[in-house]
Amino acid sequence: MVAEASNKTISVTLRVWRQAGPNQPGSFVDYTAKGLNTNMSFLELLDVVNDDITRQGGEPIAFAHDCREGICGTCSLVIDGKPHGPHRGVASCQTYVRSFADGAVITVEPFRARPFPVVKDLITDRAAFDKIQQAGGYISVRTGAAPDANANAVPKEDAELAMDAAACIGCGACVAACKNASAMLFVAAKVSHLGLMPQGQPERDKRVLAMVNTADDLGFGSCTNQYECSAACPKLISHDFIARLNRDYIGATFRSAFTPASANTGGGA
Ligand code: FES
Repeated sequence: MVAEASNKTISVTLRVWRQAGPNQPGSFVDYTAKGLNTNMSFLELLDVVNDDITRQGGEPIAFAHDCREGICGTCSLVIDGKPHGPHRGVASCQTYVRSFADGAVITVEPFRARPFPVVKDLITDRAAFDKIQQAGGYISVRTGAAPDANANAVPKEDAELAMDAAACIGCGACVAACKNASAMLFVAAKVSHLGLMPQGQPERDKRVLAMVNTADDLGFGSCTNQYECSAACPKLISHDFIARLNRDYIGATFRSAFTPASANTGGGA
């Protein structure tokens, strides 16, 4: 049965972080939005506010978005102090106006972390994640065509775990939620989804060392087991993957110390 659309409307005040550019001072500015359909998404609410601002000759609020359906990881809002807003397991674009009370004052900020500098208003530069990914988040062995992959038996438990890790959309909410701005959940997801597959074994050690060391070099902090990362993750990626990452990293570190560099590409069990 299809649920009927609600005609209920509410009014809210958005308290939005406005910042003209990188290294510019920023401040919160209030915008009141009236007559909002409660089935509107949070990004549509920003669209409505931007229409009003533009009509009045102002500069619209800059915010990042692409798919608007929880796939791309582009939307990156801290809503009322929480990356992606009040609900677990959803991105900002999947948060709806019905989550807020009539008359609510809602604070909207960009992700805050030194490796994610603010570009403008609510947009941050998350190219640091691309650099981590480029350091080792790939496989370069020939995997053949689809029938070859199907012939390569993978234990069901490993396949399901790999799929759980591959759900990471690289949004950066884990970093924004962590008091240390640690990228460990992101790195753990990327390392694990390849490391659990047979195709990921030849470069497993090289991959984990390169990705963790790149994250360190880029200024992301260490994990101190607060687990705010997995609580904020829109894909509910478990912090158990961080334990798996640590095991991989320690094993790879030992093996690299006792193996000639040219032979150091394999991985442990
Ligand atoms: S806009 Fe793509 S995940 Fe939100």
